[in-house]
Amino acid sequence: MKGMVLSGGSGTRLYPMTRAANKQLLPVYNKPMVYYPLTTLMLAGCREILLIVNPQDEASYRRLFGDGRQWGLEIGYAAQAKPGGIGEAFLLGRDFVGKDRVGLILGDNLFYGDSLPAVAERGATGSGAVIYAYWVSDPSAYGVVEFDEAGRPMSIVEKPKQPRSNWAVTGLYFYDADVCEVAREIPRSARGELEISDINAHYLKEGRLTVEKLGRGYAWLDTGTPSNLLRAGQFVETVEDRQGLQIGSPEEVAWRKGYIDDAGLERLIGPIRDSEYGKYLQRLLARG
Ligand code: TTP
Repeated sequence: MKGMVLSGGSGTRLYPMTRAANKQLLPVYNKPMVYYPLTTLMLAGCREILLIVNPQDEASYRRLFGDGRQWGLEIGYAAQAKPGGIGEAFLLGRDFVGKDRVGLILGDNLFYGDSLPAVAERGATGSGAVIYAYWVSDPSAYGVVEFDEAGRPMSIVEKPKQPRSNWAVTGLYFYDADVCEVAREIPRSARGELEISDINAHYLKEGRLTVEKLGRGYAWLDTGTPSNLLRAGQFVETVEDRQGLQIGSPEEVAWRKGYIDDAGLERLIGPIRDSEYGKYLQRLLARG
């Protein structure tokens, strides 16, 4: 399974934090932000990953992830010349996608919930477009889905002034390979972006869109503003401290899914043995 992480953007709402550092490299409590969406894709079963990054940040991401082999993944990179919308992922990732179904996740989205791996796997192995909706108090900053009485999606509107529902479209999407063709034919919006909502609306019109509702047992957190970034960090700290289990550790997910064996995990622990993170991975190994 293939997946893309959209990790570019300008991060203007987080200035001046994002003057010299890309948003998705900033910490959410104890890890770089991009670890969380990357592990969500891994849990969905994606092992071939394309990271879409700003040209000036590619070297930092390569330092962070390399070619992904250490985690049993194949990680490649594509540079987005300037932020032209989420849908541009499918122009930049055309060769990567080829004839395969593909997942896309936004690099600043954090998902958490007991059956998230199963829900994401269903999207990965489904057909057409599969997207996820989450009830939020203020949906006006997102794509908003309206459902009919039978629970079928009726419309998707990007950043509506008067939202028709509280169901926001989250930053995790799965598509058949034809999404790259669809993206090529969608005109740019008034703000000059290739809108993911327009791509989703296209699948809706064709009757090929599934919208899965993520209920109250899930957390979907946005990290785009200073308060949201802090809250996401506090959420991760609260859960991790209570359980003694980490959220969003690629080493752990790779090991639990069998992408790497005990010896592989041991090799990763070597250089970071004395950090809290290294100690956590050692405890996992010791428990078996
Ligand atoms: P946004 O939060 O919409 O935009 P941004 O990250 O540039 O931040 P701001 O609004 O504060 O300026 O982007 C959502 C996610 O998609 C985020 O992880 C960055 C990524 N992104 C790209 O990689 N390329 C793009 O062209 C856009 C628009 C977003």
